[in-house]
Amino acid sequence: MPTIDTLHELLKHELKDLYSAETQIIDALPDMVKAAANAELKKALQQHLAVTKAQKKRLEQVQKLLGEENTVPEKKGFFANLFTSSEGEQHCKALEGLVKEGNSLLQEDMSPEVMDAAIIAATQKIEHYEISSYGTARAFALQLQLKEVANLLSETLKEEYEADDALTALAISKINLEAEPTAGKENIPPEKKSKAPSPKVVKKAAPKKVAKKSNAAPPKKSVSKAKAAKRK
Ligand SMILES: [Fe+2]
Repeated sequence: MPTIDTLHELLKHELKDLYSAETQIIDALPDMVKAAANAELKKALQQHLAVTKAQKKRLEQVQKLLGEENTVPEKKGFFANLFTSSEGEQHCKALEGLVKEGNSLLQEDMSPEVMDAAIIAATQKIEHYEISSYGTARAFALQLQLKEVANLLSETLKEEYEADDALTALAISKINLEAEPTAGKENIPPEKKSKAPSPKVVKKAAPKKVAKKSNAAPPKKSVSKAKAAKRK
């Protein structure tokens, strides 16, 4: 293994790791798409697959800028394939673990609605790994004054944030609600219940009103309602 003793070398190392990560995601996403029941989730995952393929190409562009063109294995004949994979030379073990965890979830006996929530959870863990890694790589590039490299990495980082935000929005607006059949009936998180100071207070605040306040009502209204209740 070559010695890494400069930030420039460390950046190259990070980029190889990301290249392996993107390759593993491209391999893993089709199974997630197949397992998803919700049409919107399926579409979001399919779109992310297309974006990920473009991100892998962008990484090749970045590596070319850094004079690292060999992460894409050349076709050297039959035996070359025994020692290299489509990921290149470096294998991202963190992503391998996240993909394994995601795949084991797909084997679980779950209702389609809960499976959709689990798929979003697994996909977001991967997104967060990527956000962290691209953020670090971009910071290195900026420190090294590699403006073009930093810009390309920023582009991907923006896409990763967008994908993460889209999954969060879908989870909160639809998927998590469908996965919880009692949603809307008893919507108080368990930690809030346990923090209730006394049974008396719980009695005064009707559960349905508390749920409405925390989820929908604007803060000003809930304050004035609370004051009005006190005055009474
Ligand atoms: Fe990605």
